[in-house]
Amino acid sequence: MISNTPLPASFSAPVPLKGTIKVPGDKSISHRALMLSALAVGRSTVRGLLEGEDVLATAAAMRAMGVTIDRSDDGVWTIDGVGVGSLLQPQSAIEMGNSGTSTRLLMGLIASHPITATFTGDASLSSRPMKRVMEPLSRMGAEFTATSGDRLPMMVRGICPAVPIEYRLPVASAQVKSAVLLAGLNTPGITRVIEPVPTRDHSERMLAGFGAELTVDVEADGTRIISLTGEATLRAQDIVVPGDPSSAAFPVVAALLVPGSDVIVENVGINATRAGLFDILRAMGGHVEYLNEREVGGEPVADIHVRHSVLKGIAVPADIAPSMIDEFPVLFVAAALAEGRTVTTGLEELRVKESDRIALMAEGLAAIGARVTETEDGMIIDGTGGALLAGGASVATKLDHRIAMSFAIAGLMTKAPVTIDDMTPVATSFPQFTELMTALGAVRA
Ligand code: S3P
Repeated sequence: MISNTPLPASFSAPVPLKGTIKVPGDKSISHRALMLSALAVGRSTVRGLLEGEDVLATAAAMRAMGVTIDRSDDGVWTIDGVGVGSLLQPQSAIEMGNSGTSTRLLMGLIASHPITATFTGDASLSSRPMKRVMEPLSRMGAEFTATSGDRLPMMVRGICPAVPIEYRLPVASAQVKSAVLLAGLNTPGITRVIEPVPTRDHSERMLAGFGAELTVDVEADGTRIISLTGEATLRAQDIVVPGDPSSAAFPVVAALLVPGSDVIVENVGINATRAGLFDILRAMGGHVEYLNEREVGGEPVADIHVRHSVLKGIAVPADIAPSMIDEFPVLFVAAALAEGRTVTTGLEELRVKESDRIALMAEGLAAIGARVTETEDGMIIDGTGGALLAGGASVATKLDHRIAMSFAIAGLMTKAPVTIDDMTPVATSFPQFTELMTALGAVRA
């Protein structure tokens, strides 16, 4: 888990960024790989698992519920699944660290098992709203005792058999969708999630891959209706996790911004429900080219070739937000160095991530000399056209890994250093961040 001692740092780019790097495994897919393997019958293997703190928190939770999980020296994980319905009562509170995905998806899993579990988390996670998951899971029969404001620490009392529901998502959230579907696995009958705005579809893909009976119907207006037949039997699988586009986002933006750069980021997931940032960067004039497009573990993957480009401001369509929801902090950095105005809207969800990402990015960007206006649901940014920002400030990251990495990238394009108050949260999702950025030529102080 994250140590309590903050670790300040600053980054610079004395030379153009050059080289080929490979990003670690996708966080969303890694969580799901562990959870579904744990519920399958037999031994699954996972290659390319993200070994970040968030995913390790999921592994620890599954172990606490009776699943045997091992890692071999060559980095292959083996999971001896117990079968749907056979998770055991954990003997003590489950510590979720910083991980909202672990917490919300596990709430779903536990909801339809006859077990009671208590979740705790760090200061960031303990301030995040859980009502969005409690609400549908309560309708299925689970009970929750949460801290005021529907937050952690929280006790979940699952029920077996749970009641199948049809649930229309009131917010575009893959975590809520996945929590309901995971609860549906051990629920008799059909659990249905109606998704008016598509979100990342890794749960659906992987559930089908494990042999669950799952159908997705798409209506004329794009609404997705996902139906899962419960009391499922999942078959053990050998899974390969593709690289995380949300991690690739940082070197990709860095290479676009730093003059003279030419970088290849290998093994990046480009699932359409995740790749919005790359589309927007291209629309801004960025050279972001997919090479060797292929399929890895049922997910589309490419190597991404990026060259320094003069970016132009853009009005980012609100409906693209779910496909790049975690990438807005680094997009704001790109926009602050682009030519002209970038306008983003429809980003209310950013206020309830690991931090209030609109407020923190607006505050930090203003402190380093960018021209930004915070709005209720987004930000308006007038870029420098490529000229260096002033820098020379310390920015607060409030236990948010993506805020820390975004300002590390901003610091590559400032006259004076940008001090990130704490780099330790980066270990939740991208432990190799510093190593890979320095391999490309960046310098950390
Ligand atoms: C995730 C879904 C998104 C995303 C998070 C991971 C997932 O959250 O921000 O980092 O793995 O399902 P929401 O479901 O809250 O949008």
